[in-house]
Formats: sequence, structure tokens, C-alpha cells
Amino acid sequence: MSEAKNLFVVDGPLSRHKLAVLRDERTPTTDFRQAMRELALIMVAEATRRMPTRPERIRTPLVETEVEQISGPVCLVPVLRAGLGMLDGALALLPRATVGFMGLRRDEETALPVEYYVNLPRNLEDYLVLVLDPMLATGGSLSATIDKLKEEGAAWISCLHAVAAEPGVERVTREHPDVNFYAAAVDPELDERSFIVPGLGDAGDRLYGTL
Ligand code: PRP
Repeated sequence: MSEAKNLFVVDGPLSRHKLAVLRDERTPTTDFRQAMRELALIMVAEATRRMPTRPERIRTPLVETEVEQISGPVCLVPVLRAGLGMLDGALALLPRATVGFMGLRRDEETALPVEYYVNLPRNLEDYLVLVLDPMLATGGSLSATIDKLKEEGAAWISCLHAVAAEPGVERVTREHPDVNFYAAAVDPELDERSFIVPGLGDAGDRLYGTL
């Protein structure tokens, strides 16, 4: 298992339970969507623990006191398509977040990412950015996404994944030591088609019924 300091495994009975539903090939589309949404909630709760905060003085009904606010607006960036499966869950906890989109698909022959749609807010440097993608396999799509976000000025980036594979984790944690990565599980390997094993199959196809 990777010992990178910027990898955080979100592990506990509840995340394991959601992951068990996601991994099971018998899980129908509706249940798969629901479990992905719920796992996203758990992961956002964990990833926001390391967000910077700023103090603010307010009054309770009794006295003046100091509270903390997350410092800066949040931008959620789902990687299409599968990342959309985590968006609702993330928005449930961060309802005022801005949403940007990265459209990438993996070429089935080469497993290399092909960009087909990008729509990000201006002034990305002002935002705390959370990237959503259920699968981190070779790390090609995620690395391209992070490069693009940095090009656009993003300075605080965290990435959330249901399942990551050891080779992809090794790559992205090395290439982006300034980014934090959260996964509910780190699986040991990729097969000859670069699918995560044991994994959960193709998350996009399972979310949208395009099997
Ligand atoms: C999957 C997944 C990631 C990517 C991971 O998307 O959701 O974006 O592959 O692979 P990598 O780490 O090797 O780059 P896919 O290309 O299947 O597109 P989809 O979400 O539209 O199904």
C-alpha cells in the first residue's frame, strides 16, 4: 500500500458498507447511484477536514463569540461522466459550491485520456477545488485534470475517489505532492484493459445503465 503523505484512505464501517454495495455486480443501477451519492457525502465530510478556515466574530443569542468559516468559495469539479455520480452528495454538504466540469474519456485502445469538454469558473485561484471521480485507475485522467486546474490558477486541490488503484495512486501522489487524494479503498492492481481489480467495473456505465 502506498505510503504517500498526500493519500488518505477514508475507511470505516459505513464507507466499507457503501463500497460493498458498489462492488457487487448484482447491485442494480438505482442502488448503485444511491450508494455512490452516499459515499460521496462521507468522503466530502472527510476531505473538508483539511480545508483552511478563517475566524469570524458573531453574536449568539447570548454573547459575542468567535466562529470559523471555510475560507473561500468551493468549486466542485466532477470528471465526466462518472464524477457526476458524486456531485449530488457533495452538493448536499456544500450547497453553495460552484460546479465546474472536466469532460474526459479514456480511449479504450490506449487507456489515455481524451479531453472533450471543459467548463471551469473564472478566477479559479480564488476557489478551494474538490475533484470528484469514482475511479482512479492509471491516473491519466486525474493527472490531466489536475494539470488543467493548475493551469487555470487553482492552488488548493483535493481529489475524491471511491476506488483507487495502487499504480494510479503512485503516479498522482508523486506528480502532484501539493494535492490531497482521498479514496474509500486502494485496490492492488489493474488488468490488461487498465480496469481496477477487484474494483467495481466501469462506474460510468453502472451509473447510467450503459452496460
Ligand atoms: C473512467 C473513470 C475515470 C477514468 C479513470 O472514466 O471514471 O475518469 O476512467 O481511468 P484512468 O485513471 O486510467 O485515467 P471513463 O473513461 O470510463 O469515462 P466515463 O466516466 O464517461 O464512463
